Amino acid sequence: MRTQVAIVGAGPSGLLLSHLLAADGIESVVLETRSEEYVASRIRAGILEQSTVDLLRAAGLADRLDREADPHRGIHLQWPHERHHLDFVELAGRQVFVYGQTELQKDLVAAAHARGQDVVYEIDDTALHDLETDRPSVTFTDSGGTARRLEAEVVVGCDGSFGPSRTAVPADVRRTWERTYDYSWLGILADVAPSTDELIYAWHPDGFALHSMRSATVSRFYLQVPNDTPVEEWSEDRIWEGLATRLGHGQDGWELTTGPITDRSVLPMRSHVSQPMRHGRLFLAGDAAHIVPPTGAKGLNLAVADVALLAPALTALLRGDHARADAYSDTALRRVWRCTHFSWWMTTMLHTSPDPFDRQLQLSQLRWVTSSEAGATGLAENYAGLPIGF
Ligand code: APR
Ligand code: PHB
Repeated sequence: MRTQVAIVGAGPSGLLLSHLLAADGIESVVLETRSEEYVASRIRAGILEQSTVDLLRAAGLADRLDREADPHRGIHLQWPHERHHLDFVELAGRQVFVYGQTELQKDLVAAAHARGQDVVYEIDDTALHDLETDRPSVTFTDSGGTARRLEAEVVVGCDGSFGPSRTAVPADVRRTWERTYDYSWLGILADVAPSTDELIYAWHPDGFALHSMRSATVSRFYLQVPNDTPVEEWSEDRIWEGLATRLGHGQDGWELTTGPITDRSVLPMRSHVSQPMRHGRLFLAGDAAHIVPPTGAKGLNLAVADVALLAPALTALLRGDHARADAYSDTALRRVWRCTHFSWWMTTMLHTSPDPFDRQLQLSQLRWVTSSEAGATGLAENYAGLPIGF
């Protein structure tokens, strides 16, 4: 097989990249280990930044999003006995949109079908070759068990945190940074109308809680739990009691409505950055290059921002102009580190620490970002998203 761009991974990064390249007349083939159904049903985060939505609109991918996404002006930040609303539109001139990554993935899959995109699902044994030449290739075994080789001019690793692309950058040029956290999230999906108009991020001595949502009838919640917590330790009753306490049921007349829980899982948290995001004819985008903890919902938005830079850079490269491709890694990493800092900052401000000194610092920081316009604007600007190319 031969194509211009071989894309490893059919998550949001890989499918969006193939879409943007196709719009520029560049041909690609996407290779994916999982099935199309599996990839389109994974439950992930649910907040899109203004710049993500603007890009999806410009790419013609936002018809359903424009009908179904719920625009939010901001978030609620709270701690016991106090809840504050931060209005991002007033503070930063931008809003965010509630639209599950699962829904975006379905839209990307539909668009790939509509344009006849070559996506090879259920492959095995992915291996990258000759990345330092201008004839790189990817070998794999297809679902029928046949060994195949895809030759390309460029290979893009969009294969998430466990794919082979990141480590295809040789160890002597690759630098990584990592931060692990002492806690995880128990994530819950429930068939119940949200009990809030906009997301609630709650600091509580028992641990952080987040009230998010997917639609008018489906809510998403998270509870801070110790690492390696078995999901069975949290019965439905314990989950709802924990959420009621941490989110402040009964506080100033606010009530949490409960409903049937349809999914629950424990999600570990880490920060990870691997650079450079380009080596020879290999480029990395999305989770393949960086992981952020989910507080602040940056992961998907950061992946979209990478791809927004990479698509025009590859188009230019394939037409003989190297400048943007040469600048890609440094340009993308500016935003990656900004989002890495913001996600770490939101995480460490909101997750309860056993250290009493840390707790006082967290509460002081929360009071500052909810009472000072300068503090609130900093949070709003980062949460609602810096412009692409920041
Ligand atoms: N060969 C081919 N595909 C692979 C391989 C491999 N060896 N290994 C992994 N993949 C696929 C995965 O099955 C997955 O579908 O790569 C895809 C990577 O997709 P994502 O993990 O969704 O990563 P990305 O597209 O960069 O999207 C980033 O996902 O994890 C969230 O917070 C993150 O929301 C952000 C988004
Ligand atoms: C989600 O809805 O899944 C979500 C929302 C906001 C976050 C993290 C996750 O900060």
